Amino acid sequence: MAELIDKIRGIGLTGESLLKLLDLSDTQMLQLVDLAIDLKARKRRGEHLANPLLKGKNICLVFEKSSTRTRCATVCAVRDEGGQAEYLGLGDIHFGKKESVADSARVLGRFFEGILFRGFKQETVNGLAKYSGVPVWNGLTDSWHPTQILADLQTIKEHFGHLRGLKVAFVGDGRNNVCNSLMVGCAKAGLDMVDICPSELSPEQEILDAARQAASRNGCTISVEHDPIKGIAGANVIYTDVWASMGEEAVFQQRLQLLKPYQVNMDLVKATGNLESNRVIFLHCLPAFHDDKTELSKETGALEVADDVFEAPFSKVFDEAENRLHTIKAMILASLV
Ligand code: CP
Ligand code: NVA
Repeated sequence: MAELIDKIRGIGLTGESLLKLLDLSDTQMLQLVDLAIDLKARKRRGEHLANPLLKGKNICLVFEKSSTRTRCATVCAVRDEGGQAEYLGLGDIHFGKKESVADSARVLGRFFEGILFRGFKQETVNGLAKYSGVPVWNGLTDSWHPTQILADLQTIKEHFGHLRGLKVAFVGDGRNNVCNSLMVGCAKAGLDMVDICPSELSPEQEILDAARQAASRNGCTISVEHDPIKGIAGANVIYTDVWASMGEEAVFQQRLQLLKPYQVNMDLVKATGNLESNRVIFLHCLPAFHDDKTELSKETGALEVADDVFEAPFSKVFDEAENRLHTIKAMILASLV
């Protein structure tokens, strides 16, 4: 127990927020991933029940957008450790409508020991951190999704036994929150990453530059490629996400046209050259369109991943989803223990 607490405190994030991966040192990010691996084993052994680490702590979730994984992972992570989690959805509180972000933040900070935010603007989560006086964690904004990438790195490390030297290929909307964070996460962890996307959906230069700066420290590369077959060669991890993110519903049809040639299907997986040697896995942050069993995929025909890839043995999407719990727990403990 004392060893675990020392490990948590040793990360050096006590009292700190996590608003984007760029805020962490490379070492801190990797320490969070390793802590999550330890916490997963600790939970499997049931040890959290005897020695919960968040007793007496209240955490609130301020959500402007829907969520299955981030919401449930946070609630279960906090409860696992003896704390309480309160979900505040759009319409539940005055946030941003009758009360400014700064005023709501100052009130929430008087009640809660930490705030996890999901919503639209990065400046909202930044404002919560600035004014609340307690740690604030970014559970997805239009720009970043840092906790997702911690879980992705955990999943990759658990599968391959290491991170450095592997190649990750993101295929799809190359400028969305998940891709932005993945670029930075890979660069900080020493993974080569290629962002395979149509030129219209290329990443912002500022984000690419920041990721490349981290990559140069860690001996890896971050590149952008518009030809899927060329980009995918040698990939160990194929990653995709929905073609239109929450808040982008109006451009759905346009995205469908742009991204159809970027669907992750078996031909693309074979083009890695790593399928036969079992050196490739498929990841998706989820929710995913992979069949016609959701209202939206039925209505639009958008499928960013073919069903046989999604359901293949090399698809690790549900390990990845589970790891959201362990990584979010690691992050909250690092801030609050
Ligand atoms: N991956 C992810 O953030 O899922 P939710 O939208 O369900 O939280
Ligand atoms: N890019 C997606 C991620 C969902 C977890 C979105 O923002 O909707």
